[in-house]
Amino acid sequence: LQMKTCKILSIVGARPNFIKMASLHRAFRQYPHFNSMLLHTGQHYGDQMSAVFFDQLELPEPDYYLGISGGSHTQQTAKIMLAFEPIVATEKPDLVLVLGDVNSTIACALVAVKMGIPVAHVEAGLRSGDRRMPEEINRILTDSISEYLFVTEPSGLENLKKEGIPAEKVFFTGNCMVDTLLYYQEKSAQTNVLKQHGVSPKNYVLLTMHRPSNVDTSEGLETIFHLIELLTEHLPVVFPVHPRTRLNFERYGLVERFKNVKNLRLMVEQGYLEFQHLMANATVVITDSGGVQEETTFLRVPCLTFRESTERPITVEIGSNELLPELDPLLAFAKVQQIFQGAWKAGKVPDLWDGKAAERIAAVINQQCCDHVQSL
Ligand code: UD1
Ligand code: UDP
Repeated sequence: LQMKTCKILSIVGARPNFIKMASLHRAFRQYPHFNSMLLHTGQHYGDQMSAVFFDQLELPEPDYYLGISGGSHTQQTAKIMLAFEPIVATEKPDLVLVLGDVNSTIACALVAVKMGIPVAHVEAGLRSGDRRMPEEINRILTDSISEYLFVTEPSGLENLKKEGIPAEKVFFTGNCMVDTLLYYQEKSAQTNVLKQHGVSPKNYVLLTMHRPSNVDTSEGLETIFHLIELLTEHLPVVFPVHPRTRLNFERYGLVERFKNVKNLRLMVEQGYLEFQHLMANATVVITDSGGVQEETTFLRVPCLTFRESTERPITVEIGSNELLPELDPLLAFAKVQQIFQGAWKAGKVPDLWDGKAAERIAAVINQQCCDHVQSL
C-alpha cells in the first residue's frame, strides 16, 4: 500500500509567527509523509517586516499569499476569512496550524474549524487577564476551537484547565521562538549591527514599543519620549521603530522631535539576526513585546516590560523580566539605574526552552493526527 501524505497547512501573518514557523518548518521536514504547506496572510508585509525573515530564517516561499493588511480588526479578520475559505475547500488539509495571537491566527482557525478541519494552536494557553488587549481575545477564541494545543510554559496549562479544555488536547512542548534563537545564535553574533549604529556591547539600552496601549495615544508617546530623554543622558538608546509606532509618530507630528534626541539611535525595524545581536549585547531591554520578554529571559538579559500585565508570567517569576505597570518614566529610569549597578536577578531558563520544542510538536502531530493517514 502506498503511504498517504498528511497535509499540514500552516498559517503565518505577523513577524513573531515567521520566527516560530522557521523551527516548525525544519522539524516537519524530518517526516517524509508530511506535506507541509505555508500560507502567508500578508498582515505584515514589506522587506523589513516580512521578506527579511523569510530570507534570514530560510523559510520557503509561501504556497499562498493573501495580501491582506491594515484596516480595522473586523476588516482585517473578515477579509482573511473570506480569502482563506476557498483555499481550505481546494486543499482539504488534514490539519491547519496557527501560531500566537494575531488577527491572522483567529481568522484562519475559525474558517478551518467551521469546515471540519482540526486546528493546532502553537503557543496556546497564554493569558494576560486583560481583555482590552486585542491579542487576549484572539488567544481565548483560538484556544477554545483548537484540537491540539501546544503550550510554552506552565501557566498555559493552568489557564487551559481553568477554561475547561480537556487535558488530552493539551501538550506541554516548550518554546519554538527559543528553538529559532538557538539555531541562529552564532550567525547573529556575526552581524556588524553594533558597529553600524556606533554602540558597544553592554553599553546601550535597546527599546521596542508597538502595543496600541503605549503608542496609539499622544500621552503614551510622550511617556516614551520622556523615558528616552532620561536614558540618553547616560547612554545610547537603540530604538528600532515598529510600523504601527512610526505611523503614530507621523500622525502626532513627532518625527522631528524623536529624530533630534542626542544619543538616540532611531532606526527602521531590524532583521532577525541584527535584532538578536542587539538584544544579546544590550545592558537592558525596555519593551512591550511578547516575544522579546521570552528571548531576554532565555539570554538572561535584564528586561523591563512597559505593560500592566504579561501573558508570559514565567519570564517574571523565574526569568530576567520585570513589569513596569505604572508606565512612569521616572520609575522606569530608577529600575534602569539598579540594573547599571548590577542589582538585577540573574534569572533561570524555563523548562523545555531547549531548542527542541518544534521537534516535540512535530512528533505529537505525527502521532495524533497523521497516524490514521499512514495506516490507510
Ligand atoms: C500585530 C499584532 C500584535 C503583534 C504585532 C507584532 C494583531 C491584533 N496584532 O500588531 O499582536 O504583537 O503584530 O509585531 O494581530 N504595517 C505596515 N507595514 C507592515 C505591517 C504593518 O505599515 O509590514 C501597518 C499596518 O498597515 C497597520 C499597522 O501597521 O496600519 C498595524 O499593523 P497590524 O498588523 O494591524 O498590527 P500590529 O500593531 O503590527
Ligand atoms: N524583532 C525583530 N526586529 C525588530 C524587533 C523585533 O526581528 O526590529 C523580533 C524579535 O525577536 C521579537 C519578534 O520580532 O521577539 C516578535 O516581534 P514583536 O515584538 O513585533 O511581536 P510580539 O512578540 O509582541 O507579538
